[in-house]
Amino acid sequence: MRVAVGCDHGGYVLKARVVSTLEDLGAEVVDFGTDSAEISVDYPKFGESVGKAVASGDCDLGVIMCGTGIGISIAANKVKGVRAAVVTNTYMAKLTKNHNNANVIALGGRVISEDEAEDIVRTWFTAEYEGGRHQRRLDIISKIEDENFK
Ligand code: RB5
Repeated sequence: MRVAVGCDHGGYVLKARVVSTLEDLGAEVVDFGTDSAEISVDYPKFGESVGKAVASGDCDLGVIMCGTGIGISIAANKVKGVRAAVVTNTYMAKLTKNHNNANVIALGGRVISEDEAEDIVRTWFTAEYEGGRHQRRLDIISKIEDENFK
C-alpha cells in the first residue's frame, strides 16, 4: 500500500507522527512536503500533488495536513476522483472509510494533537469500505464530477 503525504507549514507539526504511523501499519510513504513549520507555503499545491498521486493510481491513499485540514482538503477535492475528508476524531475516521470510501483524509495541525492524529490514521487505514447502498451514493458523486469537471 502506497500512501501519499503532504502538508503546509500549519500541518507540518503532525507529519512525522503521521508518517511513522503509516510505516508502522506497513505502508510505503511518498512524501510531497513541505518540510518546515517555519517557512510559510501555500497549501493548495500540496493538496493538488497528493490528490493527483491518488487519482492517478500512483498511490492508493493520501493524508494531507494544514492548519485546520480544511483548505488543503478543498484543494485536493478539485482533483477528479479524490474523496478527501476532514477528520477530527476516530468516529469520523471510521465512518469516512465505511461509508464514503475516503481515499484521502485531511488533518488540522492547529486542531488535533499528534496522539489524536495517530489514532485517526490507524482507524481510517484499517477500516473497510462497506459498499452496498454507499456505492450508489459514490456513483452519484462520480456523475456530478463527470458533469462538472473538464
Ligand atoms: C495557513 O496559515 C492556514 O491558512 C492553512 O494552514 C490552513 O489552515 C487553511 O485552511
